[in-house]
Amino acid sequence: MPESFDVIVIGAGPGGYVCAIRAAQLGMKVACVEKRGTLGGTCLNVGCIPSKALLHSSEHFEEAKHKLADHGVEVGSVALNLQRMMERKGEVVTANVKGIEFLFKKNKVTWLKGEGRIVSPGKVEVAGTTYDTKNIVIATGSESTPLPGVEVDEKRVVTSTGALELDKVPGHLVVIGGGVIGLELGSVWRRLGAEVTVVEFLDRLVPGMDAEIGKQFERILGKQGIKFRLKSKVTGAKTDASGVTLTVEPVAGGKAEEIKADVVLLAIGRRAYTGNLGLAEAGVALDERGRVKTDGHFATNVPGIWAIGDVIAGAMLAHKAEEEGVALAEHLAGQKPHINYDAIPGVVYTWPEVASIGKTEEELKAAGVAYKVGKFPFTANGRARAMGDTDGFVKILADKQTDRVLGAHILGPDAGTLIAEIAIAMEFGASAEDIARTCHAHPSLNEAVKEAALAVDGRALHM
Ligand code: FAD
Ligand code: NAI
Repeated sequence: MPESFDVIVIGAGPGGYVCAIRAAQLGMKVACVEKRGTLGGTCLNVGCIPSKALLHSSEHFEEAKHKLADHGVEVGSVALNLQRMMERKGEVVTANVKGIEFLFKKNKVTWLKGEGRIVSPGKVEVAGTTYDTKNIVIATGSESTPLPGVEVDEKRVVTSTGALELDKVPGHLVVIGGGVIGLELGSVWRRLGAEVTVVEFLDRLVPGMDAEIGKQFERILGKQGIKFRLKSKVTGAKTDASGVTLTVEPVAGGKAEEIKADVVLLAIGRRAYTGNLGLAEAGVALDERGRVKTDGHFATNVPGIWAIGDVIAGAMLAHKAEEEGVALAEHLAGQKPHINYDAIPGVVYTWPEVASIGKTEEELKAAGVAYKVGKFPFTANGRARAMGDTDGFVKILADKQTDRVLGAHILGPDAGTLIAEIAIAMEFGASAEDIARTCHAHPSLNEAVKEAALAVDGRALHM
């Protein structure tokens, strides 16, 4: 008789592996099915971690080449060793995925190696063996969305996975999609010497983010050398020995143009991945975008089958998947967890970084909420000046009547770290005044957050 479990999680990404560990901590007998040779999912293997390794390494290269001299640090000629940069990225990934294996052993989570298929509620088949379980958690994540007419070969026309593995710096990289992947990986290859053109369907970059931030972000990335073709769509790609020829058309109609690229990165979003899972046979309902439909407690329409992470609705972010993994495990243990979806930060790890939490100004306007705005530029922050990183600003949005913080948007150095302060403030239901009255160390970048909070009430001190 094969072993039986309280919970079988299918997929060992940040949603699945965290859910498995938390369920085991709460005393359940847990298995996690993963078909990839390593644990950690998209995030650790081909997503967050390798992209951040390359972003960090390429930023060092750019600093050595263009920024250190201004600080009085002369390094002479600077050369790129792309092979070593890639090796290092591989080492970072390996250390992280091995870490999850260690955590599974420590928490007595069984890794069932292979592709998992739901045979029926309570039964999961992996590599020819069917296991009984009280609960099944679908945490199978997402995959790159294809574009008709643009065939991916992961060599010349790549998704993010191929863009993390290029063996030489392309002369011209064309990115289709001015979202998070396009701008992060576009930045990596621009810093390493590629000419980068981003073709974006809409009239602005990172469309989900606060429009004012998006506009300034576009200007800064433009100054860094990335070219943008907004309101444009790619309608075809022809690959030959010399590269890829893309057909690009204005969205509003008009003359099509051809652009030559050495490599094309397709990054127009990701879609839920449910291939070979047996969902139709098990009767699990999907929504109109192919995502597993769930209720407020991650239950699907089939009792005993649950789903979390990228495969369900909501932001496709590792930390959102993790929160859902924890909340579901606690719910299965009879606890009453809660996720505040209004306080999930989103960060673009370019330099400067962009970080966002809560409502944008456009969302507040659309909802008819009366709000106040406080803004503070990094040019007026002493630490940013000392660093030589003065691009960008902090923007805090607070309720006009109650002063409660409704959202914050930061473009600037280390914005991804700075936003954590606002996340905590929002979780505690803080007002802008609460942040403004909190003592912030000097000289720190966080003082820009304090000053933006003061500016909500029109009393910034250094502006
Ligand atoms: P995934 O991480 O996709 O994991 C799902 C796992 O399930 C996979 O390992 C897959 O092999 C496995 N699987 C699927 N079907 C089966 C099956 N039938 N049987 C067994 N196993 C199966 N998010 C951030 O928050 N910050 C970032 O900086 C960030 N950077 C990113 C950079 C890139 C290039 C990409 C592509 C994504 C990035 N993301 C980032 C998004 C983040 O990776 C995802 O939101 C996150 O991985 C989702 O977690 P998940 O557990 O839902 O799914
Ligand atoms: P995205 O949704 O961020 O951006 C896709 C962009 O492509 C949008 O601006 C969209 O308007 C545009 N687009 C769509 N169709 C197009 C077309 N036919 N032609 C031109 N442009 C088109 O998706 P992306 O960048 O692929 O990332 C996928 C997911 O991965 C995101 O949802 C994000 O949450 C996650 N991710 C998160 C990161 C982070 O948190 N730092 C880093 C990388 C990815």
